[in-house]
Amino acid sequence: MGKKSSSLLIFFLLLQLSSKLRSDQHLPKSEVDALNTIAALLGLKQLRYSNDSCRNPLLADGIKCDYCGSTTCHVTNLTFPNQDLTGVIAQEVANLTYLKELDLSGNQLYGSIPVSLGNLSSLSILDLSFNYLIGPIPASLGSIQSLTRLYLFNNFLNDSIPQALGALRSLQILSLGQNRLSGRVPDELGNIATLEFLGLKENRLSGDLPKGLGKLSKLRSFYMSSNNLTGELPRSFSNLGNLRVFSLHGNYMSGHIPDFINSWTNLSTLRLMGNDFEGPLPNISTLIWLEDLWVSDLRNSTGLPFPQLSTSKNLYSLILRNCSISGQIPPYIGDLSSLTYL
Ligand SMILES: *[C@@H]1O[C@H](CO)[C@@H](O)[C@H](O)[C@H]1NC(C)=O
Ligand SMILES: *[C@@H]1O[C@H](CO)[C@@H](O)[C@H](O)[C@H]1NC(C)=O
Ligand SMILES: *[C@@H]1O[C@H](CO)[C@@H](O)[C@H](O)[C@H]1NC(C)=O
Ligand SMILES: *[C@@H]1O[C@H](CO)[C@@H](O)[C@H](O)[C@H]1NC(C)=O
Ligand SMILES: *[C@@H]1O[C@H](CO)[C@@H](O)[C@H](O)[C@H]1NC(C)=O
Ligand SMILES: *[C@@H]1O[C@H](CO)[C@@H](O)[C@H](O)[C@H]1NC(C)=O
Ligand SMILES: *[C@@H]1O[C@H](CO)[C@@H](O)[C@H](O)[C@H]1NC(C)=O
Ligand SMILES: *[C@@H]1O[C@H](CO)[C@@H](O)[C@H](O)[C@H]1NC(C)=O
Ligand SMILES: *[C@@H]1O[C@H](CO)[C@@H](O)[C@H](O)[C@H]1NC(C)=O
Ligand SMILES: *[C@@H]1O[C@H](CO)[C@@H](O)[C@H](O)[C@H]1NC(C)=O
Repeated sequence: MGKKSSSLLIFFLLLQLSSKLRSDQHLPKSEVDALNTIAALLGLKQLRYSNDSCRNPLLADGIKCDYCGSTTCHVTNLTFPNQDLTGVIAQEVANLTYLKELDLSGNQLYGSIPVSLGNLSSLSILDLSFNYLIGPIPASLGSIQSLTRLYLFNNFLNDSIPQALGALRSLQILSLGQNRLSGRVPDELGNIATLEFLGLKENRLSGDLPKGLGKLSKLRSFYMSSNNLTGELPRSFSNLGNLRVFSLHGNYMSGHIPDFINSWTNLSTLRLMGNDFEGPLPNISTLIWLEDLWVSDLRNSTGLPFPQLSTSKNLYSLILRNCSISGQIPPYIGDLSSLTYL
């Protein structure tokens, strides 16, 4: 690089730096108003935002700005996690139209989730977990095409899971566990081709597991324990070869445990305990990464053999309770060096 071009480069860098610090980059009034309404309803009474908030760190509590043009900046992140806030989520949050991340997790927020959140068309992360939110999950959230992570874990959300969530096209994490969600698991969730984590445990979901979920070929974690699910494992689940965790204990599932689980070769956790499955457990000697195997209450009148575990060298936690198993415990169990819970 010649002397001329490198000094030109420095010139442009300085130009860029000075433009970043221009004093006329203001937050638009609509966003300032929205921020002040939101803060007041979150119980942050002393907080005052102004059109200077993007430039002055002392006025930027809980916010980050971006998209700074010559005269304006926009709020992209609003985060107040774990601050013991007692209040409600203002519907005016939808006026922060450039928002990418909204994190109000770990507070004591009550009331419901505003339907207007569905208008945040750039939102990528929505985390409202660990609060006291009630009412339904708004179907409007299904229109946020940019959403990658939705955390609503541990609230008091009820009613059924909206089918509209199946329209999300970028979602990787759907975490809705520990709520009061009822009704069936929507088949439409199987349309979220990007989904890697599906967490619905400890709700009141009932009915069969929809076969559409078998389309989730990127799924790594499936948490569905402690619900009221019935019926057999759908045949389509044989496609879920990327699973690391399959946790379904504490439901009313029935039928045979299908042979195809031996094709989930990356599995480390398999929890089927506390259902109405029939034995035997298929030959799972292919599951060499298995660390955690919980099975109980298998029906079989004639007695079942001990499962094939000699290849599962990482086995850490093994529960085989009330499984009609007869015969001897195989000697290789003594060689499973990681096993600490039997
Ligand atoms: C939010 O936007 C709506 C509609 O654009 C407007 O009527 C309302 O005044 C705004 N609220 C605040 C607090 O800015
Ligand atoms: C910023 O706010 C101040 C005080 O409220 C006001 O005087 C000023 O005109 C505003 N500037 C812009 C660009 O909106
Ligand atoms: C703001 O949110 C975006 C999207 O979630 C994230 O990638 C980014 O790291 C956040 N920025 C800051 C400064 O926290
Ligand atoms: C969402 O935006 C549309 C169009 O801008 C508006 O008509 C509607 O009232 C907004 N919905 C909510 C719930 O804010
Ligand atoms: C959900 O909870 C709200 C508030 O507690 C209640 O009014 C409503 O009837 C509940 N809905 C369902 C479907 O359980
Ligand atoms: C779950 O199923 C059990 C047994 O079938 C039933 O007693 C219970 O009321 C159900 N609970 C819910 C929330 O549906
Ligand atoms: C298991 O995981 C590896 C990456 O860790 C991946 O390449 C492989 O495709 C997975 N196996 C299956 C059966 O999907
Ligand atoms: C289980 O499967 C493995 C490999 O597929 C095979 O070597 C073994 O003999 C099988 N065990 C039984 C009891 O069928
Ligand atoms: C053992 O499993 C059978 C069949 O699933 C069930 O009917 C029975 O209640 C279980 N017994 C105990 C002690 O849990
Ligand atoms: C009981 O298990 C044996 C294999 O151990 C199997 O052949 C038989 O079909 C099972 N019986 C029932 C009723 O599921």
